[in-house]
Amino acid sequence: MKVLVATEKPFAAEAVNGIKKVIDAAGHELVLLEKGTKEDLIKAVADVEGLIVRSDIVDKEVFDAAKQLKVVVRAGAGYDNIDLAEATAKGVCVMNTPGQNSNAVAELVFGMAIMMIRNHYNGKAGTELKEKSLGIHAYGQVGRNVARIAKGFGMAVTALDPFVKDEDMVAEGVTPMHSVEELYSNNQFVSLHIPATPQTKQSVTKELICKLPKNGVLINTARKEVIDEAGLAEALEARPDICYVADVKPDNAEELTAKYGDRVFFTPKKMGAQTAEANIKAGIAAAEQVVAHLRDGWNRFQVNK
Ligand code: 3PG
Repeated sequence: MKVLVATEKPFAAEAVNGIKKVIDAAGHELVLLEKGTKEDLIKAVADVEGLIVRSDIVDKEVFDAAKQLKVVVRAGAGYDNIDLAEATAKGVCVMNTPGQNSNAVAELVFGMAIMMIRNHYNGKAGTELKEKSLGIHAYGQVGRNVARIAKGFGMAVTALDPFVKDEDMVAEGVTPMHSVEELYSNNQFVSLHIPATPQTKQSVTKELICKLPKNGVLINTARKEVIDEAGLAEALEARPDICYVADVKPDNAEELTAKYGDRVFFTPKKMGAQTAEANIKAGIAAAEQVVAHLRDGWNRFQVNK
């Protein structure tokens, strides 16, 4: 059978080698499409049984073209790029690879936070993370890694997640918060880890951002859609002490950069999970999951049940 790895943002070479070994060992054929267009993807999926992607869009057009497709694995956490309803309608199993790239994203949170409080390394005196407060907005795999690292910096860590029990956070040295207002009002640093869903889209509003205490820093390594971008611009205008740093560039990035300079920063392309280690772990996990599904229908991480 054929397994297509289609990545607009390619994996590290070591990860591709690892994926190939897993696919070859199972007796399947690897087809690699890197930096392809949507058209390339539509052509390439025509005769494959398995598909591995990252943030690549897998919509109805792709599913319509993929007549043999049985399984799609998103090598990563968020699967908002995949049309789950369409997959289900076509009997295709969709899985993600939870936890495999989360340390890479968590480390970037601190890289970004330090860059902001050290004034983009411009030589002027900045501030430190030690003894500052950090609020983690969603305590999943990335959030937990952020908490672990934050404790090493000597930060006071709180988190909000309605799906995690208070006692589980407390056991990990994290103070539970019970509303977004409480989370934003009590933390100088807030790190976003909510997925993009109909409930969370544009849920981080001007009002919420303005609740940050003095010199608040909002860090977004999650999804651009969770921010109300007009509200963000208004918050930056209303609160000259606040900074916004994101690995997921907003649509109004140029306007914000022109107006607010070093108070904002955006990576040119999402790179939270773009490390060799994360590529290897997520890529190989994805390959193993595809192989297991094609072998006997294994579906432990299915997200379209
Ligand atoms: C994820 O959801 O796993 C991260 O956002 C990483 O996405 P990427 O694979 O496109 O870098």
